[in-house]
Amino acid sequence: MDTTDESARGERKVFIKTYGCQMNVYDSQRMGDALERDGYRQTEVIEDADLVLLNTCHIREKAAEKIYSELGRIRVLKSERAAVGRELRVGVTGCVAQAEGAEIIERAPVVDLVIGPQTYHRLPDALKRVARGERVVETDYAVEDKFDHLPASARSAIARRGVTAFLTVQEGCDKFCTFCVVPYTRGSEVSRPYSAVMDEARRLAEAGVREVTLLGQNVNAWAGTDASGRPIGLAGLLRELAAVPGLARLRYTTSHPRDMDDDLIAAHGDLRALMPYLHLPVQSGSDPILKAMNRRHKAADYLALLDRIRAARPDIALSGDFIVGFPGETDADFEATLDLVRTVRYAAAYTFKYSPRPGTPGATMDGHVPEDVKTERLERLQALIREQQVAFQESFVGRDTEVLIEKPGRHPGQMIGRSPFLLPVVVPSSAGEVGDIVTVRISETRPNSLMAAGAEPAVMAAGAEPVVSAPAASEPQLRKIA
Ligand code: 5AD
Ligand code: SF4
Repeated sequence: MDTTDESARGERKVFIKTYGCQMNVYDSQRMGDALERDGYRQTEVIEDADLVLLNTCHIREKAAEKIYSELGRIRVLKSERAAVGRELRVGVTGCVAQAEGAEIIERAPVVDLVIGPQTYHRLPDALKRVARGERVVETDYAVEDKFDHLPASARSAIARRGVTAFLTVQEGCDKFCTFCVVPYTRGSEVSRPYSAVMDEARRLAEAGVREVTLLGQNVNAWAGTDASGRPIGLAGLLRELAAVPGLARLRYTTSHPRDMDDDLIAAHGDLRALMPYLHLPVQSGSDPILKAMNRRHKAADYLALLDRIRAARPDIALSGDFIVGFPGETDADFEATLDLVRTVRYAAAYTFKYSPRPGTPGATMDGHVPEDVKTERLERLQALIREQQVAFQESFVGRDTEVLIEKPGRHPGQMIGRSPFLLPVVVPSSAGEVGDIVTVRISETRPNSLMAAGAEPAVMAAGAEPVVSAPAASEPQLRKIA
């Protein structure tokens, strides 16, 4: 039992702000659950908090810089607190913590603790050390598995988060794309054991979760052994998860083209629970740029792979990530990317200007592209993708689609859910309840969402736009930058 003065003071509150990808969302949930067992209640109001955690992203420069400006604002809050004799503890977790470690403590005196993504199970202990007056930096790669040391999420916490859930099954990356910090911040590829994944999935299902998205930086590199000791890959894991009572829908993200094996492609054809949506980043359509990026495949290999996936599941919706302005990218290289996008026809895609990251090979390559050229290329690529996204959405008008209802809509009489293709759909509340999978007829499209017949005019305020938590056009599926 914690005997610091804080626990004697009664209930404490933690405010967790999450930046970046879904894995950070998942990590924040696990940290929140672990702290809850230690007497912290989560709050959405930073001013109420006794502990503020920034769970950070290092993928691009802008994402990392945001942290320091946020810490500036928190410094003001902390001194206001100190003036009235109350304490505010501040922690930085996630990938900036991993990459910059002790530097954060030096640059931002407001910070009490810095904890990398591999060590957040040590958070309760680190807080005790902070209470004794230490400033804590924990950024080593723990020898123990953090998941083994974290308490399982309480049923109430799972239920509070709704009928869809993330489940990290794989972490880290051995691919070393020359633009990317992930191999340095998240370490080498590690798969969570089969039994741990299955236990967590069963707990999620028992608490009412209907749809699980398996997460990993290279999720399709997942490898393990099933209950009888047979080696299996992600396809085998998905097949086992599909049999968990209550779980109706499965997704996974993010995948590398080189790890899409035959079994996984086949699963898209024959596993009903596996949703027909695949996020498969290619980054560029130009072979010289793909080589410089160390992607280890050519544009034609990617297109051939998509042909095989589409042969298994003809209606699959595809999304990808693209970087424009990688060092050395010429107009012709960029045109090759546009050509690839025209060939593929994406349902969605996430586009970024190349951002040099310290310590990655790309940062010191020759031929950096001027910012205005990057901006112009980004706009052209986004316009093309937007056209494809609109065409994809419009293809559903007049057709029936299945929707997993997730939550009440913004307007009375509406609920919001998602189609198998990950598109948010506004449905009339009469269609069903949260957790139901219902079939509705799509009547029209809205920016980033579909409207089911009966959800619009009659029940909506005139001219009102439904507000849904759809990803914006430029946000990646795994590393969604806040
Ligand atoms: N600059 C721009 N975009 C990047 N990404 C990763 N690193 C960088 C970088 N240095 C993009 C890639 C990746 C997505 C999550 O973020 O497209 O797939
Ligand atoms: Fe690994 Fe993906 Fe980063 Fe490449 S882009 S190094 S595959 S995390």
